[in-house]
Amino acid sequence: MEQKKVTVPDLARMKAAGERITMVTAYDCTFARLIDEAGVELLLVGDSLAMVVQGHDTTLPVTLDEMVYHTRMVARGRKRAIVVGDLPFGSYQVSPAQAVESAIRLVKDGGAETVKLEGGVHMADTIAAITAVDIPVMGHIGLTPQSVHRMGGHRVQGRRHGHNPGGRERLLEDALAVEAAGAFAVVLEAIPLDLAAEITAKLTIPTIGIGAGAHCDGQVLVSHDLLGLSSWVPRFGKRYAQLADEVVRATRTFVDEVRGGQFPTEAHAFQPAPPVAVNAK
Ligand code: KIV
Repeated sequence: MEQKKVTVPDLARMKAAGERITMVTAYDCTFARLIDEAGVELLLVGDSLAMVVQGHDTTLPVTLDEMVYHTRMVARGRKRAIVVGDLPFGSYQVSPAQAVESAIRLVKDGGAETVKLEGGVHMADTIAAITAVDIPVMGHIGLTPQSVHRMGGHRVQGRRHGHNPGGRERLLEDALAVEAAGAFAVVLEAIPLDLAAEITAKLTIPTIGIGAGAHCDGQVLVSHDLLGLSSWVPRFGKRYAQLADEVVRATRTFVDEVRGGQFPTEAHAFQPAPPVAVNAK
């Protein structure tokens, strides 16, 4: 049975009804099709692709052109879920006008329906500018990987007695600013679960957690972690399959069969065409 397309207003209804929202990253058409078929509400073309697809140590190097390219592939593969295009580092921090142009590219050239950006209070004007041109924006606060150098690594944010005193209050202010600026949802990454619960209760827009505990309105995972394709998974991630082992096993079997002469067999080959009869006169 064809499932109904998910829309941005559906997510607000889900929060109001206490229904949990799911988001998973995808970076190409094949995985977008499969993850969409599994029934998630949101497909995130995350800038995590810099790390899990491109092999960088941080999310910083991926470009807007590359994000547009991958978003286009994901948009081709999905039928039902909302496609969220992540604005990469450097494509929105210069000015709200730059952010609007980058968001338009992700929508117009990439086929994204919504965009995501990192930052709270200091990004409020930018979120407002993008929503003013009718592109729905998802915020992202807490551990914001594009700020890795300021944070001194990928660290949990907003701990009461953490390395950054006052971080808890600041995160609450960030969440409220993102909502007031017009975002339709906000990712809470790597923050204590009681703070995530407090933010979730205070906001009218859905919170989507990753390493933020069970009280968020939804959860997001990086597909390579969920599927067991990454070489390591953060403490807050969970592997639901071990596809890396399957990839190695299947490929090794192919290599062995080619070397041993078991593949290809006659079943995989084409017979030569029968000779064409020539009329001898
Ligand atoms: O880029 C990404 O995959 C993300 C998620 C971790 C939320 O931003």
